[in-house]
Amino acid sequence: MKNIVLVGGHDETFTHCAGLGFDFSVLQRSALIGENLRTLTDDIHPIPDFEPDTVAAALERVTQSKRVDYIFSFTESGLLPAALAGHRFAIPGISLAACELCIDKRLMREFLADSEFAVESAICRTQAEVEVFFDQHRRGIVLKDPTGSGSDAVFLIRDERELTTALPQLGGKDFVTLAEEYLTGREVSVETLTIDGQHRILAVTNKKLHRNTLAEEQHIISPDVVGAEQFHQISGYCERLLTRIRHQHGPCHIELKIADDKLRLIEINNRVGGDYIGLLVELTTGISQVRETLRWHSDATTFTDSEERARYMYAASHQFYEPTEPEVLRKAMRGVDIVRLHVDPAKLSPGRPRTNKDKVGWIVIASNQREAFHSAIDYLDRYCS
Ligand SMILES: Nc1ncnc2c1ncn2[C@@H]1O[C@H](COP(=O)(O)OP(=O)(O)O)[C@@H](O)[C@H]1O
Ligand SMILES: [Mg+2]
Repeated sequence: MKNIVLVGGHDETFTHCAGLGFDFSVLQRSALIGENLRTLTDDIHPIPDFEPDTVAAALERVTQSKRVDYIFSFTESGLLPAALAGHRFAIPGISLAACELCIDKRLMREFLADSEFAVESAICRTQAEVEVFFDQHRRGIVLKDPTGSGSDAVFLIRDERELTTALPQLGGKDFVTLAEEYLTGREVSVETLTIDGQHRILAVTNKKLHRNTLAEEQHIISPDVVGAEQFHQISGYCERLLTRIRHQHGPCHIELKIADDKLRLIEINNRVGGDYIGLLVELTTGISQVRETLRWHSDATTFTDSEERARYMYAASHQFYEPTEPEVLRKAMRGVDIVRLHVDPAKLSPGRPRTNKDKVGWIVIASNQREAFHSAIDYLDRYCS
C-alpha cells in the first residue's frame, strides 16, 4: 500500500481520505487532533507549529520508519511547509513553484504582469511610497501583507480619510506592504480541480462580507450565482490562469472581481476554499476536491466511498458573528436541509473591525427548491448579519 503524509487540515478533511487504499501518516498540531483524524489513522505525529523546519523534521522522522510516496496539505498553513519539505526529501505531491506563486502575492503579481491577469501593484516600504501609489491610483488602492491570509491586515483605501486611518496601522519603520489598484465590482470565487494537468471548473461561489468588514459571512453555490454565459467566460479565464501558473494537480480557490463583464484577479490559493466552501462544492457537484486529488494516485481498483452525498442545486454556508438561537433558526429554514449547524456563546467585542476569526458559529444548508432556498437566505441576511 502507498503511504501518504498529510500536513495539518480541518478535522473534516480526514473524512475524505478513507477507503482509497492508502496508509496515512499525519502531522498535526496537538490542539487540532480530532475524532476524524483518529478514525483515519493511528500514525499521528503531533507538532507544535507548521514552521518549515518543524514540518521537515517531522517528515524526516516518518521517512526513517517507512517509505513515503506522497505528501499533501489541504490547508493554508500547511501548504508551503509541506511543499518545501516534499521538495527537500524528493517526495512528490505539491508543486513548490506553483505553491510559492500562490502564497506570495508579490511573486504572483510580478509573474502575471503583462498578461490578461495583470493588476497594477507595487511594494511599499514607507508611508511616502504608499502616498505616491495612491496619487497614481485615485480610484482607490488596497494594501496587504504580501504573504497574509484570512483578510488579516488588508486595508481598502478609497479616499484621503481611509488613507489617513490606514497609514499609522502599517507598523513602524520596517513595514513591507503590497499596494494594489482597487478592483471594483462584484466578488466571486471559483473552485477548481486539476487532475494530472486537466483543469475542471467545479463551481462559482458568491461571497458576502459581514457588514462593513472583510470578514466572510456567506457563501452560496447555485445556478443563480452567475448565468451560463458568464460561467463559460469565468471557466475559460480560470483554465488559462491555471495553465499559466503551471498548476498540475489538486484544488484551487481563485478569487475574482467582475465589473462590466470584465474579470480581474484578486488572488489564487492552491487549496480548497475556506469555511465550508469545499462542502458546498461537494453538495452541489458530488465531487470532493480532497478525495479526487488523492484518488488519482491510488493503485486500488475499487473504492469504498465513506459517504455518498446527495446532489443539490442550491447550497450555502452562513457564518455567525453574533449568537443566534438554533431552534428559531431551524424553524425558519423550512424546505431546506440543514447539513451543519453550530453556535458558540457570544464573544467579547474585539474593539476593531471583525475578521474571520471572530465568528461564533455557522450553518450549512442545501436544497433543490429555489423558493425555499431563497427565503432561507433572506432570513439569514435579515436576522443573522
Ligand atoms: N486589489 C483589490 N481590489 C479590491 N478588493 C481587494 C483587492 N485585494 C483584496 N481585496 C479584498 O480584500 C479581501 C482579502 O484580500 P486577499 O488578497 O484575498 O487576501 P487574503 O489572502 O487575506 O484572503 C479580498 O477577498 C477582497 O474582498
Ligand atoms: Mg483571499
